[in-house]
Amino acid sequence: MKSSCAFPLQHYTRRAVEIIIEADAAALADRAAQIVLGELFRKPDLVLGLATGKTPVGLYERLRKQPTLFQKVRFFNLDEFHGLGPTDPDSFHSFFHQHLLNHVKHEAKNVHLFRGDMKDFEEEAKLVEDRIRVVGGIDLQILGIGRNGHVGFNEPGSSLGSRTRAKTLEPDTVAHYAAGGKTPPNHAITMGVGTIMEAKKCLMLASGADKADIICRMVEGPIMSEVPATALQMHPRAIVVLDEPAASKLKRGDFYKWVFANKWRVGQK
Ligand code: F6R
Repeated sequence: MKSSCAFPLQHYTRRAVEIIIEADAAALADRAAQIVLGELFRKPDLVLGLATGKTPVGLYERLRKQPTLFQKVRFFNLDEFHGLGPTDPDSFHSFFHQHLLNHVKHEAKNVHLFRGDMKDFEEEAKLVEDRIRVVGGIDLQILGIGRNGHVGFNEPGSSLGSRTRAKTLEPDTVAHYAAGGKTPPNHAITMGVGTIMEAKKCLMLASGADKADIICRMVEGPIMSEVPATALQMHPRAIVVLDEPAASKLKRGDFYKWVFANKWRVGQK
């Protein structure tokens, strides 16, 4: 049937936030890799925003099986701990090299990761915002979510319009990133919620039962600075990939599965 509406059908069948629920963490990583690779094939010089944390590690494992696809990619990241320079093994800078950059062909000039050892965080924040602007914005931003609802290191109470800046971290966040008997710094630099919202596409990943409560609030709760990740509900092109345990408290989980299974695909007859 031909639609008499002014907008193409896919505008109606597409939720602003698309929820994809996979069986487990491995299937989640497969799906996330499929989405990222799709964007890379579409735009080889993609501006890719990376996230740290445990959740995207499986995604990076899969991406590095395609080492030649990253030669033109421009890389940014969400955040970095205060005081940790690029060579510090506990820095997010080291994390990205360990999990992705050391394994794929890329141009060093295209890697724009935060420097946690900058004396002046305001200057560093401005520099990164300017660099993002110069490359025409982030095309795809990978995201995770903290159990407290943080996105990037925008802790609860962060303004939903915030820009890149320094933040004091909650004790639970600091504890989450403690490794090898070492506790990370209490302060970090992070892209703001407003900065993240300007990414053309966002891909949020959440895995495990300990994320179920906050995922329910993020997807189905009211938009509020108390849960900064709820801002994504207003993003025009956000995809949230969950595993079953992380999705287990969603009220409309079955509906999201049905929508995805019956999704309108361009070219569909
Ligand atoms: C990391 C970041 C954080 C993490 C969040 C979840 O760069 O910005 O928002 O995404 O802390 O971390 P994991 O994946 O370890 O649960």
